[in-house]
Amino acid sequence: MKAKSILVMLSATIVWFTLSACQLGVNDANQDPNQQSITIFSERHYDTDRVLYDLFEAETGIQVNLVRDGADPLLSRLENEGEDTIADVLLVADAGSLERAKNRDLLLAIESPFLNEHVPQNYRDIDGYWYGVSARARVLVYHPERVDVNALSTYEALIEPAWEGRVVTRSSTNIYNQSLMASFIEVMGDQGARDFASGLVANFAKSPSGNDRAQALSVLSGEADVAIMNTYYIGVMLNSGDATQIEAAASLKLFFPNQGTTGTHVNASAAGVVKHSSNPELATQFIEFLLSETAQRHFTTNNFEYPVNPNVEWDSLLLSWGTFVPQDINLAVLGENNNRAKEIMDQVGWR
Ligand code: FE2
Repeated sequence: MKAKSILVMLSATIVWFTLSACQLGVNDANQDPNQQSITIFSERHYDTDRVLYDLFEAETGIQVNLVRDGADPLLSRLENEGEDTIADVLLVADAGSLERAKNRDLLLAIESPFLNEHVPQNYRDIDGYWYGVSARARVLVYHPERVDVNALSTYEALIEPAWEGRVVTRSSTNIYNQSLMASFIEVMGDQGARDFASGLVANFAKSPSGNDRAQALSVLSGEADVAIMNTYYIGVMLNSGDATQIEAAASLKLFFPNQGTTGTHVNASAAGVVKHSSNPELATQFIEFLLSETAQRHFTTNNFEYPVNPNVEWDSLLLSWGTFVPQDINLAVLGENNNRAKEIMDQVGWR
């Protein structure tokens, strides 16, 4: 009996050690103890990011461990773990989430002349807590046989009676739409943003469901005529290997709204060094790598995002859509206005 108890305890200990090792991304028992490594907490859901980590490892010899989750769970985890966190870098798909992380005291301000030079001012925190790494525009995607391009102008114009029952976008729980609204609060004021949201809900073709790609498929099928969605999904769909997605991406057209007024809404994936990182220098080196020409080219050619580093040319697909004027705001406002945006969306019945 006693021997059996010892065996059970021994097995439990082995399981605990194995689980701890897996969580740390340490799979090799014979690993060099001098091996430098960093741990990235990432919200980005793109498989192509692994190539970036491999490139960084090859260039620097620093091993990258990855923990993937939603932005809110990652922020909560950093808060709960405090000084004990294994994280060095927080990487998210929405710059507003990093502004919220900064305000919750989860990030470390860094001094990087390289980042200050290669990230335009609108795409980084003024105090060095976070930096945009790749950008995407949230645009109108329409069916050219059902929509005359001359009928398109601004986001706000979609609330006119002509668009009743013809517009789709995803739900208000989605951070991309929350940040779209947060930007509208900034450029149109509270009332303008509210009028847009309530008018848009009135013109929805259906109750919001599915991701950005599902909105494009709704337009292809005739369920709706216009979708509000992110640019890079068109590239991702074209390269998905899925016949329906390819058909949607090839036949639908993309329109940059609010040219000549408040500009098209642009958001960015962004990265910051975790406040309690045990390797802030390596973490900074990783973020600088994300802004290097190699990494920036990868973002645009493999995930169809806009490079943030202005020295890097856009992928040919992005060039084919043409240039556009973005909103003139610092992306910090996406985080600052997030609660207000959610409140308005809730009040107007955007589900
Ligand atoms: Fe996405």
